[in-house]
Amino acid sequence: MCGIVGVTGAVGAAGVVYKRLKLLEYRGYDSAGIASMLDGRFYICKRRGRVYSIGGDIKRLHGDTAIGHTRWATHGAPSDANAHPHIAGRFALVHNGIIENYAALKEKYFSGVEFASQTDSEVVVRLLDLFYEGDALAAVAKTVSLLVGSYALVIMCADFDGLIVTKKANPAIIGYGDGASYCASDAPALAGLCSEITVLGDGDIAALTAGRVEFYDGNLHVICREKIANPAVSTELDLHGCPHYMLKEIREVPSSIIRTCDAYTCASDGLSDYLNGVERIIIVGCGTAYNSGLVGKRYFEAFAGIPTEVETAGEFRYKQPIINGRTAVIAISQSGETADTVEAAKLVKGLGGKVIAVTNSPYSELTRIADAVVPVEAGQEICVAATKSYTGQITALYMLSLTLAGMDTQTGAKKLYETAELAKGIIERTDIGAFADTCARSDGVYFLGRDLDYAVATEGSLKLKEISYVPSEGYPAGELKHGTLALIDIRTASVVIITDPALAPKSENAVEQILSRRGKVLVVTNVKDTLQRTEGKADVLEIPVCDKYLSPLLSAVVVQLLAYKTALLLGRDPDKPRNLAKSVTVE
Ligand code: G6P
Repeated sequence: MCGIVGVTGAVGAAGVVYKRLKLLEYRGYDSAGIASMLDGRFYICKRRGRVYSIGGDIKRLHGDTAIGHTRWATHGAPSDANAHPHIAGRFALVHNGIIENYAALKEKYFSGVEFASQTDSEVVVRLLDLFYEGDALAAVAKTVSLLVGSYALVIMCADFDGLIVTKKANPAIIGYGDGASYCASDAPALAGLCSEITVLGDGDIAALTAGRVEFYDGNLHVICREKIANPAVSTELDLHGCPHYMLKEIREVPSSIIRTCDAYTCASDGLSDYLNGVERIIIVGCGTAYNSGLVGKRYFEAFAGIPTEVETAGEFRYKQPIINGRTAVIAISQSGETADTVEAAKLVKGLGGKVIAVTNSPYSELTRIADAVVPVEAGQEICVAATKSYTGQITALYMLSLTLAGMDTQTGAKKLYETAELAKGIIERTDIGAFADTCARSDGVYFLGRDLDYAVATEGSLKLKEISYVPSEGYPAGELKHGTLALIDIRTASVVIITDPALAPKSENAVEQILSRRGKVLVVTNVKDTLQRTEGKADVLEIPVCDKYLSPLLSAVVVQLLAYKTALLLGRDPDKPRNLAKSVTVE
């Protein structure tokens, strides 16, 4: 995945693109580049590294039309040559996605030609130039008709005073502002600049000139596309005094719970009718979204008595799932654009199943596919590692499960409000840093729990490994003795989450087993007996007593802060972990 942005009709266009590109860095930060255009001539700077690395070159990028790119490398290593934009003849472009048939196209149309990069994108710009006969739109239509794969493209042609934007399976939006026209990968990149946007559909081709946008289908027939209010507000992009977005977003966990709960109350009308007769639920998602699904499974089974499976979306797609009209598939995705999750949802629809999207992105691809949407109101999440969206997803799943069970959602909402208040107290605590020091010095960190605590353990482990790069694993406490115990020694740390009094003695056994192998242990608990029994033996972090089913909302904050503090101790950038990107729009 990559972030793309473009503007035409703005004085100092490259500067505008530079500023907006920084807001898209969560989509990738292997390299950055901007090209501008003045009187049919291109000016370009691009290099390996983050967007700031090209800041000094902006002043020599002339013209009021510019395109920019921040890259998450897929084809071709992160390098200056592979950085976008790519230029061929009278065309320059930036691309987000993967052209799956690029090698075949290269072979067919450019046999023997030496390319300047190893990217799949270069073949697209060369095709544009090859097919160009004086009509830039015609060249775009012909080129994209040959492409297999996914793309959002922003194109400049030396003979066209503006930009051409087209997309398939990767997101692109158009923005309207003060005599200028804009485009970007997502709405927050244009927050504060464009109060109105249009979300492009697959196959749309948009021609942007200063203050005017025209839309075409693949045959270049004019089509209409509606304008909507830009849902992103620029204040969400402020750090509000926090050193990192991750900390800011953890601090927003309570408001994410409350806002998601309120949004559910407004959006739930008709959901129960809609889900009437559902006999089986399959939850699909990737990364953190998958982990929130593990919590959701417990809710659907405990409250509604509906058998529920949780699958990583990438696996689900390729295992010939058995779906019928009484199966509901819940697709969870913060971004609503994760390729595996979106494709899983399409597959379900094709098999005649129902898809319910649980997402933080109301205008995403996933919401377009889904039969119903349960909103997560976490607000814009910029840190690559998900935090407040995880707790927002759990909130949404909790409310949905109450509806399915025919239980009182108002009582549920009250419990959520109380839990959000308790989460605030945890966020302010300073004693979580002590065990972070132990984690930072450890060869491996293991997260254990039973039942719901196990679900949070998987997320704790993911958080820690992705932002600190310390090897980590999350597993059920009962499994410790079936293998992982072999890894425990004085150089390892374990985090044992214990929030269910009924299961506490069993999980305490795991604590004892680790301690007897000289492993370091942090017990995260709100069980009084566990506190008494483990204090003095292990590090103990007490969290407030709360509704049993909502304890993940509190223990999640602990493991998120633990990961954050460990990453800082190791000198990592928690907002931009190496090799990762927030929205993975490729397989
Ligand atoms: C990437 C991100 C993860 C995220 C996952 C799913 O792997 O690095 O933080 O959990 O995608 O993203 P989604 O937007 O579908 O929730």
